[in-house]
Amino acid sequence: MTSSQTLPVLQAALVDLIDLTLLAKQAHWNVHGPHFRSVHLELDEVEVQLRDAQDLLAERMAAVGGNPDGRAATVLATSSVQDIGSGPLAADKVVAQFADRLAAVARGIEAKLTDLDEDLPSQDILIASIQNLDKAAWMFRAQEG
Ligand SMILES: [Fe+2]
Repeated sequence: MTSSQTLPVLQAALVDLIDLTLLAKQAHWNVHGPHFRSVHLELDEVEVQLRDAQDLLAERMAAVGGNPDGRAATVLATSSVQDIGSGPLAADKVVAQFADRLAAVARGIEAKLTDLDEDLPSQDILIASIQNLDKAAWMFRAQEG
């Protein structure tokens, strides 16, 4: 059963997942330095996972009567994700940035989970997103010296 607080929680998570997806591609294209290839490829793996997660989430919103808003302007105005900056990105810095940002989004979603106690299917989708974000964050964090 959805409640009035379900859709804003899902929308906030959607925007953050979209922003992370965009940053993963940005870093994929601009990373350089030692371990370039593994970080370059890992970013693409994460980008695909994030895209799948956002699609699942947006379609859940639609299924329960909402209107997912994934427009660039909405992402710009409402994302909680910290930017990674433009230009070249050193691989070790990218690893740290993504370990940090993936975990931050996971914690942000986690903090709102109890708002969805009356909508367990939506809560389940967010829990799965947290699991994937935490795993991806760990895989970056494990590369830090
Ligand atoms: Fe590529």
